[in-house]
Amino acid sequence: MKTIYIIANWKSNKTKGEVDQWLTEIAKSKGQKEKIGKEIIVCPSFLHLSQCKQLISEQNLPFKLGAQNISPFSAGAYTGEINGEQLKDHVSHVIIGHSERRNHFGESNEIVFKKVIQAITNNLTPIVCVSNIDQVHDLTERIENYEPKLTTANLLIAYEPLFAIGSGQADSPENANNLAQTIKKEMPSSFVLYGGSVTSQNVKTFIDQPYIDGVLVGGASLKPLEFSQIVQNA
Ligand code: PGA
Repeated sequence: MKTIYIIANWKSNKTKGEVDQWLTEIAKSKGQKEKIGKEIIVCPSFLHLSQCKQLISEQNLPFKLGAQNISPFSAGAYTGEINGEQLKDHVSHVIIGHSERRNHFGESNEIVFKKVIQAITNNLTPIVCVSNIDQVHDLTERIENYEPKLTTANLLIAYEPLFAIGSGQADSPENANNLAQTIKKEMPSSFVLYGGSVTSQNVKTFIDQPYIDGVLVGGASLKPLEFSQIVQNA
Protein backbone atom coordinates (compact mmCIF):
# COMPACT_ATOMS: atom_id res chain seq x y z
CA MET A 1 0.00 0.00 0.00
CA LYS A 2 1.44 3.37 -0.94
CA THR A 3 1.91 6.05 1.70
CA ILE A 4 -0.29 9.04 0.99
CA TYR A 5 1.19 12.46 1.68
CA ILE A 6 -1.17 15.23 2.74
CA ILE A 7 0.47 18.59 3.21
CA ALA A 8 -1.19 21.68 4.68
CA ASN A 9 0.38 24.89 3.40
CA TRP A 10 -0.96 27.72 5.53
CA LYS A 11 1.05 30.34 3.60
CA SER A 12 1.10 33.75 5.36
CA ASN A 13 -2.04 33.06 7.39
CA LYS A 14 -3.11 32.59 11.02
CA THR A 15 -2.33 34.40 14.25
CA LYS A 16 -1.16 32.67 17.42
CA GLY A 17 -4.76 32.39 18.64
CA GLU A 18 -5.98 30.97 15.33
CA VAL A 19 -3.22 28.35 15.37
CA ASP A 20 -4.37 27.26 18.85
CA GLN A 21 -7.95 27.09 17.66
CA TRP A 22 -7.11 25.05 14.52
CA LEU A 23 -5.20 22.43 16.50
CA THR A 24 -7.83 22.23 19.24
CA GLU A 25 -10.61 21.76 16.68
CA ILE A 26 -8.76 19.21 14.61
CA ALA A 27 -7.94 17.20 17.72
CA LYS A 28 -11.68 16.98 18.43
CA SER A 29 -12.55 15.83 14.91
CA LYS A 30 -13.00 12.11 14.63
CA GLY A 31 -11.39 9.70 12.23
CA GLN A 32 -8.01 9.10 13.88
CA LYS A 33 -7.87 5.60 12.42
CA GLU A 34 -8.35 6.88 8.87
CA LYS A 35 -4.96 8.55 9.26
CA ILE A 36 -3.15 5.19 9.05
CA GLY A 37 -0.98 4.98 5.94
CA LYS A 38 -1.08 8.75 5.60
CA GLU A 39 1.76 11.13 6.26
CA ILE A 40 0.30 14.47 7.28
CA ILE A 41 2.62 17.45 7.31
CA VAL A 42 1.47 20.85 8.54
CA CYS A 43 3.40 23.90 7.35
CA PRO A 44 2.63 27.00 9.45
CA SER A 45 4.64 30.23 9.44
CA PHE A 46 8.09 30.09 11.05
CA LEU A 47 6.69 32.04 14.02
CA HIS A 48 4.24 29.30 14.89
CA LEU A 49 6.45 26.22 14.53
CA SER A 50 7.28 25.90 18.23
CA GLN A 51 3.68 26.49 19.25
CA CYS A 52 2.49 23.85 16.78
CA LYS A 53 5.13 21.38 17.92
CA GLN A 54 4.02 21.74 21.53
CA LEU A 55 0.30 21.42 20.76
CA ILE A 56 0.79 18.46 18.41
CA SER A 57 2.67 16.65 21.16
CA GLU A 58 0.17 17.63 23.90
CA GLN A 59 -2.79 16.50 21.79
CA ASN A 60 -0.92 13.46 20.50
CA LEU A 61 -1.75 14.30 16.90
CA PRO A 62 -0.20 12.26 14.06
CA PHE A 63 1.22 15.33 12.30
CA LYS A 64 4.72 16.21 11.21
CA LEU A 65 5.83 19.79 10.72
CA GLY A 66 7.22 21.50 7.67
CA ALA A 67 8.54 24.99 6.97
CA GLN A 68 7.44 27.04 3.97
CA ASN A 69 10.91 28.29 3.07
CA ILE A 70 14.62 27.88 3.82
CA SER A 71 17.62 30.11 3.30
CA PRO A 72 19.71 29.28 0.21
CA PHE A 73 22.77 29.82 2.44
CA SER A 74 24.11 28.19 5.55
CA ALA A 75 24.58 30.22 8.79
CA GLY A 76 26.08 33.67 8.42
CA ALA A 77 25.41 37.31 7.60
CA TYR A 78 22.07 36.91 5.79
CA THR A 79 19.66 39.22 7.61
CA GLY A 80 16.13 37.88 7.88
CA GLU A 81 16.92 34.38 6.65
CA ILE A 82 16.30 31.11 8.48
CA ASN A 83 18.83 28.44 7.61
CA GLY A 84 18.65 24.66 7.41
CA GLU A 85 20.65 24.04 10.55
CA GLN A 86 18.18 26.17 12.51
CA LEU A 87 15.18 24.54 10.86
CA LYS A 88 16.17 20.98 11.49
CA ASP A 89 15.49 21.42 15.23
CA HIS A 90 11.86 22.20 14.40
CA VAL A 91 10.75 20.49 11.18
CA SER A 92 11.25 17.37 9.09
CA HIS A 93 10.11 18.87 5.77
CA VAL A 94 10.40 22.15 3.91
CA ILE A 95 8.45 23.56 0.96
CA ILE A 96 10.80 24.97 -1.68
CA GLY A 97 10.11 26.95 -4.85
CA HIS A 98 6.39 27.50 -4.40
CA SER A 99 5.13 29.52 -7.38
CA GLU A 100 4.25 32.39 -5.01
CA ARG A 101 7.92 32.60 -4.03
CA ARG A 102 9.03 32.30 -7.64
CA ASN A 103 6.61 35.07 -8.70
CA HIS A 104 6.61 37.51 -5.78
CA PHE A 105 10.13 37.03 -4.49
CA GLY A 106 12.05 36.41 -7.70
CA GLU A 107 13.15 32.87 -6.89
CA SER A 108 14.93 31.44 -9.91
CA ASN A 109 15.60 27.78 -10.62
CA GLU A 110 19.13 28.42 -9.38
CA ILE A 111 17.94 29.73 -6.00
CA VAL A 112 15.45 26.88 -5.73
CA PHE A 113 18.28 24.41 -6.24
CA LYS A 114 20.48 26.15 -3.63
CA LYS A 115 17.62 25.71 -1.18
CA VAL A 116 17.27 22.05 -2.12
CA ILE A 117 20.98 21.57 -1.34
CA GLN A 118 20.56 23.27 2.06
CA ALA A 119 17.56 21.11 2.88
CA ILE A 120 19.18 17.82 1.89
CA THR A 121 22.48 18.54 3.60
CA ASN A 122 20.54 19.25 6.80
CA ASN A 123 18.50 16.05 6.54
CA LEU A 124 15.27 17.87 5.77
CA THR A 125 12.93 16.44 3.15
CA PRO A 126 12.36 19.01 0.40
CA ILE A 127 8.89 19.43 -1.04
CA VAL A 128 9.82 21.08 -4.32
CA CYS A 129 6.97 22.83 -6.10
CA VAL A 130 6.93 22.95 -9.88
CA SER A 131 4.30 24.37 -12.17
CA ASN A 132 5.60 23.02 -15.47
CA ILE A 133 7.81 20.27 -16.83
CA ASP A 134 10.69 22.67 -17.69
CA GLN A 135 11.20 23.30 -13.97
CA VAL A 136 11.45 19.53 -13.50
CA HIS A 137 14.05 19.18 -16.29
CA ASP A 138 16.07 22.01 -14.74
CA LEU A 139 16.00 20.46 -11.28
CA THR A 140 16.93 17.00 -12.58
CA GLU A 141 19.85 18.40 -14.54
CA ARG A 142 21.16 20.38 -11.57
CA ILE A 143 20.86 17.37 -9.27
CA GLU A 144 22.67 15.13 -11.78
CA ASN A 145 25.52 17.60 -12.30
CA TYR A 146 26.07 18.46 -8.65
CA GLU A 147 29.14 17.20 -6.79
CA PRO A 148 29.21 15.69 -4.21
CA LYS A 149 26.17 13.63 -5.16
CA LEU A 150 22.98 14.53 -3.31
CA THR A 151 20.81 11.91 -1.66
CA THR A 152 17.44 12.48 -3.30
CA ALA A 153 15.70 9.26 -2.32
CA ASN A 154 12.81 10.91 -0.48
CA LEU A 155 12.36 13.98 -2.61
CA LEU A 156 8.76 15.15 -2.79
CA ILE A 157 7.77 17.01 -5.94
CA ALA A 158 4.50 18.94 -5.90
CA TYR A 159 3.03 19.61 -9.32
CA GLU A 160 0.96 22.79 -9.00
CA PRO A 161 -0.30 24.33 -12.26
CA LEU A 162 -0.56 28.12 -11.92
CA PHE A 163 -4.18 28.33 -13.08
CA ALA A 164 -5.26 25.96 -10.31
CA ILE A 165 -3.68 27.68 -7.29
CA GLY A 166 -6.31 29.42 -5.18
CA SER A 167 -8.71 29.56 -8.13
CA GLY A 168 -11.21 26.86 -7.28
CA GLN A 169 -10.37 25.31 -10.68
CA ALA A 170 -8.34 22.17 -10.03
CA ASP A 171 -6.51 20.45 -12.88
CA SER A 172 -8.10 17.24 -14.13
CA PRO A 173 -6.88 14.16 -12.24
CA GLU A 174 -5.90 12.55 -15.57
CA ASN A 175 -3.73 15.47 -16.59
CA ALA A 176 -2.14 15.68 -13.14
CA ASN A 177 -1.46 11.94 -13.35
CA ASN A 178 0.23 12.33 -16.75
CA LEU A 179 2.49 15.03 -15.34
CA ALA A 180 3.24 12.88 -12.30
CA GLN A 181 4.18 9.98 -14.60
CA THR A 182 6.55 12.22 -16.58
CA ILE A 183 8.13 13.50 -13.37
CA LYS A 184 8.66 9.96 -12.10
CA LYS A 185 10.29 8.97 -15.38
CA GLU A 186 12.89 11.67 -14.78
CA MET A 187 13.17 11.13 -11.04
CA PRO A 188 12.24 7.53 -10.38
CA SER A 189 12.77 7.73 -6.62
CA SER A 190 10.61 10.83 -6.10
CA PHE A 191 7.11 10.99 -4.69
CA VAL A 192 4.77 13.21 -6.66
CA LEU A 193 1.98 15.30 -5.16
CA TYR A 194 -0.71 17.35 -6.83
CA GLY A 195 -1.56 20.86 -5.58
CA GLY A 196 -4.09 23.48 -6.70
CA SER A 197 -7.66 23.87 -5.39
CA VAL A 198 -7.71 20.52 -3.62
CA THR A 199 -10.80 20.09 -1.43
CA SER A 200 -12.49 17.30 0.49
CA GLN A 201 -14.71 16.85 -2.58
CA ASN A 202 -11.98 16.23 -5.15
CA VAL A 203 -9.07 14.84 -3.11
CA LYS A 204 -9.92 11.20 -3.76
CA THR A 205 -9.97 11.70 -7.54
CA PHE A 206 -6.29 12.71 -7.34
CA ILE A 207 -5.22 10.13 -4.79
CA ASP A 208 -6.78 7.37 -6.91
CA GLN A 209 -4.41 8.13 -9.78
CA PRO A 210 -1.56 5.59 -9.99
CA TYR A 211 1.31 8.09 -10.20
CA ILE A 212 0.05 10.57 -7.59
CA ASP A 213 1.30 10.02 -4.04
CA GLY A 214 -0.49 12.84 -2.27
CA VAL A 215 -1.72 16.40 -2.23
CA LEU A 216 -0.51 19.84 -1.24
CA VAL A 217 -3.43 21.81 0.14
CA GLY A 218 -3.50 25.59 0.52
CA GLY A 219 -6.81 27.37 1.14
CA ALA A 220 -8.76 24.30 2.21
CA SER A 221 -6.16 23.45 4.87
CA LEU A 222 -6.95 26.63 6.79
CA LYS A 223 -10.28 25.29 8.00
CA PRO A 224 -9.77 22.46 10.51
CA LEU A 225 -12.96 20.57 9.68
CA GLU A 226 -12.37 20.74 5.95
CA PHE A 227 -8.76 19.63 6.38
CA SER A 228 -9.84 16.79 8.61
CA GLN A 229 -12.34 15.75 5.93
CA ILE A 230 -9.61 15.88 3.28
CA VAL A 231 -7.50 13.53 5.39
CA GLN A 232 -10.44 11.17 5.82
CA ASN A 233 -11.43 11.20 2.15
CA ALA A 234 -7.89 10.82 0.78
P1 PGA B 1 -4.73 26.11 -2.99
O1 PGA B 1 -3.14 26.33 -2.87
O2 PGA B 1 -5.02 24.77 -2.40
O3 PGA B 1 -5.32 27.24 -2.17
O4 PGA B 1 -5.07 26.20 -4.43
C1 PGA B 1 -2.25 25.29 -3.11
C2 PGA B 1 -0.85 25.81 -2.95
O5 PGA B 1 -0.60 26.96 -3.32
O6 PGA B 1 0.04 25.10 -2.45
